[in-house]
Amino acid sequence: MTNRSLRSTIRTDSCRTVRHAVVITAYLKSRRRANNMAELLGEIELNRIYQRDCIEGMRMIPDESVDLVATDPPYVNVVGEDWDKENVFTDELVSEMRRVLKPSGSIYVWCGIGEKSRSLVDFIQILDKQLNFKDLITWKKQRGIGMRKGWLYTREECLWYVKDNKKFIWRRDNQYNKEDKRAFSLPNNKSDYKRWTNIWTDVKEVAGGMKSAQYHPTQKPVELMERIINLHTYENEVVLDCFMGSGTTAVAALRTNRNFVGFELEPEYVQIANQRLESLADTEAERKLTEEDE
Ligand SMILES: C[S@@+](CC[C@H](N)C(=O)[O-])C[C@H]1O[C@@H](n2cnc3c(N)ncnc32)[C@H](O)[C@@H]1O
Repeated sequence: MTNRSLRSTIRTDSCRTVRHAVVITAYLKSRRRANNMAELLGEIELNRIYQRDCIEGMRMIPDESVDLVATDPPYVNVVGEDWDKENVFTDELVSEMRRVLKPSGSIYVWCGIGEKSRSLVDFIQILDKQLNFKDLITWKKQRGIGMRKGWLYTREECLWYVKDNKKFIWRRDNQYNKEDKRAFSLPNNKSDYKRWTNIWTDVKEVAGGMKSAQYHPTQKPVELMERIINLHTYENEVVLDCFMGSGTTAVAALRTNRNFVGFELEPEYVQIANQRLESLADTEAERKLTEEDE
């Protein structure tokens, strides 16, 4: 490379770096502004994870202002972490989730059932008191947790409830697996694609050979949260996760052009979640720059 072309490359690169920073900031700001009514939801800033108790946090959200609640509470005594030692899934928590949810909204709660934890049973009893049960999704994982005497444990569950049986949103256009052609489709399926069932077998756990992408001991794959978001909300609507952990729901919301509201008690997870969001913004900015350059 001649000195002249080297100088020109350096100039282009530094311009690109400045432009890159501008695009990242603009992207994050535009996401914060995406709900074009306001950047705030009551006193809460959209697209920000608050390090605070979720019941306290939800009290700052106005009635019927959230389109979807998708959350993954501690299952209680499954992982040896302090935050998993006692049950925080209470009547009071569900009553706040119900209050902030729009009549068209759904609530998805991850849970499990096994020798150590019966969160599925406990959460159903609490949710049943205030909401309408719709379905139970089973996520069939690829790897299992072995018991010395017992079945290899390879599943997690997700409870789906609605606030209003008539008004809840179900996006028919998003009820198909667009990567799965019709071959094994259900009868009466008019689509080219296979319809999702309530047993999800196609999503791998986060770790499995890609440990660098695991930030939390109970981290959910982004695809699980994206599927729920796409089925129950439209672009720019608001998704609430009371137990953000490493921010998976927030990442899924941004990737699908939704806004999120979130709470997480542990400062280190809030920091990790923010790093994930920044790196997502970074990727998005890179994509936009490449498009501009082409
Ligand atoms: C099962 S983990 C969520 C993991 C998350 N789905 C992910 O993909 O990273 C539950 C999280 O809830 C947090 N937590 C527990 N009690 C809380 C509370 N009262 N308010 C807010 N967060 C809480 C814990 O610190 C933990 O990170």
